Amino acid sequence: MKLRKAVIPVAGLGTRFLPATKTVPKELLPIVDIPSIQYVVQEAVDAGIEEIIFVTGRGKDGIEDHFDEAPELEQLLTERGNHEMVKTLRMIAEMTEVVSVRQKKPLGLGHAVLCAKDLVGDEPFAVMLADDLIEAEVPGIRQLIKIFEETSESVVALMEVPESEVHQYGIIKGREIKKRLYQVEATVEKPLAKDAPSRMAIIGRYVLRPEIFKILQDLPPGRGGEIQLTDGLSQLVRERKIFGCEFVGERYDIGDKFGFVRATVAYALKRADLRDKVLEYLKSIPN
Ligand code: UTP
Repeated sequence: MKLRKAVIPVAGLGTRFLPATKTVPKELLPIVDIPSIQYVVQEAVDAGIEEIIFVTGRGKDGIEDHFDEAPELEQLLTERGNHEMVKTLRMIAEMTEVVSVRQKKPLGLGHAVLCAKDLVGDEPFAVMLADDLIEAEVPGIRQLIKIFEETSESVVALMEVPESEVHQYGIIKGREIKKRLYQVEATVEKPLAKDAPSRMAIIGRYVLRPEIFKILQDLPPGRGGEIQLTDGLSQLVRERKIFGCEFVGERYDIGDKFGFVRATVAYALKRADLRDKVLEYLKSIPN
């Protein structure tokens, strides 16, 4: 079955980026001059996904606006002769089909995914967290979809993390059945390093079977009083197989300040108009 839809939950409060996120959704903070959410939507489009479902919250309307038409702005830019930017704006508005649903209270990632139930319907779907940027030859989510196409089961993205960081992630217990492919046996949300079953962390890309909705509906709050997607996965794995895909690519955690700076530098270095200047500047910084 073709995977057509991706849910992108953007209803979190982004407290790590206050005061910037007091009025600006963190997903619209730019990496150089492109709002970070656009990279994630582009990854979905490049992977063949046809519809994006944003799970939004209060103050997040700007995210939908970013993917909408902007006729007045286009007209103004046309009058000023800036046809390149008009083309860029048109490309963004025509990238993909966008719909949205509100999560009225930020009750957790699992709850945010549940809010998309009616828009997803009874079919498998992707979940993509905008906090994770993945730079890869084969789009990150496409690598998971490939495994889904072969197995028809749910797939999570995995990355090995240092022991000092396991407490920040959902961690799997599992075994590698093929190079970079894991069979997940259990998942645990943010364990202490001493209790962690492995160092394989779940990164913000998933392909989920619709059975997850029923599980999330009945799930009690977990860590931090939030309905955790990881808890939902640990129930799902008792009913059906879940695979883990140790994706190939570079991941930037832009929900974290250092990760955001890292991504900004890396993406600037990829730009022909900036690369030399940025490199020269970095080399000139005294240490
Ligand atoms: P996080 O908890 O990492 O992000 O959620 P946050 O709450 O936005 O940011 P901080 O930690 O306060 O700085 C991971 C992802 O899940 C979404 C967030 O938008 C983010 O993309 N999320 C989280 C929701 O949509 N709803 C929730 O209730 C919780």
